[in-house]
Amino acid sequence: MRARTTVAAAISTVLAISLTACGEDSDTGSGGEAASVGIAMPTKTSQRWINDGQNMVDELKGFGYTTTLKYADNDPKNQVAQIQAMIDSGVDALVIASVNGKVFADVLEKAESANIPVIAYDRLILGTPNVDYYATFDNVKVGTLQADFITESLGLVNGSGKGPFTVELFAGSPDDNNTRYFYEASMEVLEPYIQNGDLIVRSGETELDEITTLRWDGPTAEKRMNKLLDSEYTDQDVDAILSPYDGMSIGIIKALKEHGYGAPGKPLPIITGQDAEVPSIKSIMEGDQSQTVYKDTRELALVTAYMVNSMVHNKKPALNDTRTYDNGKKVVPAYLLEPVSVDKANYEQVLVDSGYLKKSDLK
Ligand code: GAL
Repeated sequence: MRARTTVAAAISTVLAISLTACGEDSDTGSGGEAASVGIAMPTKTSQRWINDGQNMVDELKGFGYTTTLKYADNDPKNQVAQIQAMIDSGVDALVIASVNGKVFADVLEKAESANIPVIAYDRLILGTPNVDYYATFDNVKVGTLQADFITESLGLVNGSGKGPFTVELFAGSPDDNNTRYFYEASMEVLEPYIQNGDLIVRSGETELDEITTLRWDGPTAEKRMNKLLDSEYTDQDVDAILSPYDGMSIGIIKALKEHGYGAPGKPLPIITGQDAEVPSIKSIMEGDQSQTVYKDTRELALVTAYMVNSMVHNKKPALNDTRTYDNGKKVVPAYLLEPVSVDKANYEQVLVDSGYLKKSDLK
């Protein structure tokens, strides 16, 4: 077994049990040759996906596998073509972090015919029975952590806050299944306060289809924030913004600063995020962004590589959720990792001490 003690130690005993069940790490598929794995990633516009791709390559190499890594430039058609090419080249397994979870039914039927196992990475693949497993984080918890941060920071939870407070809501890409999970979990927390008037959404935009952000794009979020500030917040400041992703939070903060927030007498609102990306951690250190949700993508790659290894050997991988992720054709068995809320008080301990980010990255 490779020495991956720090990260591996963080993964639950369930995984450890399955590793034992797998027996020795081995680098060959049934044919005796080194197995090859196709890795389809969505985009290089965010550092997290660049790291995810590299982590997957490294972990699979650790098992002795060869890899093909492709990025789809956020284009769903391009991603389907890349996966088709991987199938044609005879890969032994596919790991897919989808741009649009709904476009793979045909191409994955071909994977199934060729006996190629498929793992959905981070984002669920929808509308096909031909996805074997799902490796991700607890997406419900992500949304809960973001909304909890808002209600706790405003003092709504312990009753110390003198509301009502204004809040605006942003959601992720409408074609990413995670978006709905983050949104619904956040709304579960926020809804009672909206109902009782402690939180006021001045735009009235609270339905998912009113607040999505195609491809999680920062400039798109910035544009909507500008529009909201110009139309709803000319006579009153906004107190909190639910943002589901760091890249969007950065765009939102830009719009807020252009409208005079972040200056004496006009503090920035509470702003959440996700992914613990370097620009956002720097922003948190400066007191601009308030929070992010850290997901240790090193662990995700490790869990996924173990899943691949199990499947190549016709073994069942470690799973800890077999009921949450219905993709419309089946409930996809999953392994969920734990997300962690990060703010100014704990970023150093959580991110730097764990080696996820270097102190020098944050200069
Ligand atoms: C989601 C993912 C988030 C974030 C977002 C934008 O699917 O779960 O962690 O990365 O995409 O890339």
